[in-house]
Amino acid sequence: MPAKGAQVDVIVGGGVVGLSVAWRLAREGRPVTVIDPAPGSGASYAAAGMLAPVSEVTYTEAPLLRLGVASLRRWPAFAAELAADAGLGTTGLEAGGQESAGHAVGLRLAQGGPPGRGLDLRADGTLDVAFGADDLAALEELAAFMDKLGLPVERLTGRECRRLEPMLAPSVRGGLLAPDDAWVNPRRVTAALLTALERRGVPLVRARATGLLHEGDAVVGVRLEPGGDVPAEVRGERVLLAAGAWSAGLADVPVRPVKGQIIRLRSPQPLLGRCVRGTVHGSSVYLVPRGDGELVVGATQEEMGFDTKVTAGGLYELLRDARELVPGVTELEVADVVAGLRPGTPDNLPVIGPSGTPGLVYATGHHRGGVLLAPLTTAILLGEESELAALCAPGRFREFS
Ligand code: GLY
Repeated sequence: MPAKGAQVDVIVGGGVVGLSVAWRLAREGRPVTVIDPAPGSGASYAAAGMLAPVSEVTYTEAPLLRLGVASLRRWPAFAAELAADAGLGTTGLEAGGQESAGHAVGLRLAQGGPPGRGLDLRADGTLDVAFGADDLAALEELAAFMDKLGLPVERLTGRECRRLEPMLAPSVRGGLLAPDDAWVNPRRVTAALLTALERRGVPLVRARATGLLHEGDAVVGVRLEPGGDVPAEVRGERVLLAAGAWSAGLADVPVRPVKGQIIRLRSPQPLLGRCVRGTVHGSSVYLVPRGDGELVVGATQEEMGFDTKVTAGGLYELLRDARELVPGVTELEVADVVAGLRPGTPDNLPVIGPSGTPGLVYATGHHRGGVLLAPLTTAILLGEESELAALCAPGRFREFS
């Protein structure tokens, strides 16, 4: 673990995780170089930006829930500092469609400015809805699990769900409101991080890393794909591998690509006031409303290797399932479709901290939670979260270094 004062001076990967770490180090006055051929264009570009540890949890994922809740608590300060550092002229926090007082995570949202400025961080909660008796039973089990963990959830009837979200289908029979869940626009976050890094003079090498440089048993830098005025290599005392799904191509870390297709729709009037999700035809679908009228519908979960094709079948299933939840989605304009690659790990937990190789540190494997877990990842790497760091320690995969 790079304890306070230790250097991570080369970061491979310019997604939300790598850029967040670089920004935090730069703010502390530490020299750092970021390497990425197209920063902000990978999984962070596809991501919906749900900061939703509660509604994304399953029974087997209590450790992931702990990480998510801890990182969500860090998000308001992270966003406010980032917005200020990037010169956005707002706090980065915005009110949603309704009054947002924040909840147990302590979000306190600024009320000024039109929606869509800043980072579009909103904290109006997630409504997880059920259609049939089986869905209702599953939600009740989830609610009981939440109660046991002391996390706030509210059980709602179908009518109460529709009172909160009038555009919900009449067939919704009940739901769970996770009032503390939040969301942010990840594309704005990576843009703000890049601006903040530029303002702080952090070098960004727009090149693909083709391998790690070794001296003896230590990593001492990164080799780059030749081209233009790109240097052949960048040397450093410690290299942080934050290359998401591409990490396993550079080091022995058990990260695999998990494809997610996702659709952005455009709505003249906001259709929803909060995130809505449900299980339809056995697969989970979520809808995330943005302040600027965008409605994000996601996401498929496919084990297809490095395939990033957007398919007719993927889009069909997403829209079919979204329409079951909110029939009005079919009226909306399609703004964007994209497929991203989540960096999955065998236990769905990220891999953060020193590898078994001197000079090589990991911040990868964030799977469905890169945006949510970015602030916590920086804190772990700076030695501020030792208990949670243990959950993410690379050494848990003994056969890998
Ligand atoms: N975090 C939601 C997803 O990965 O689809």
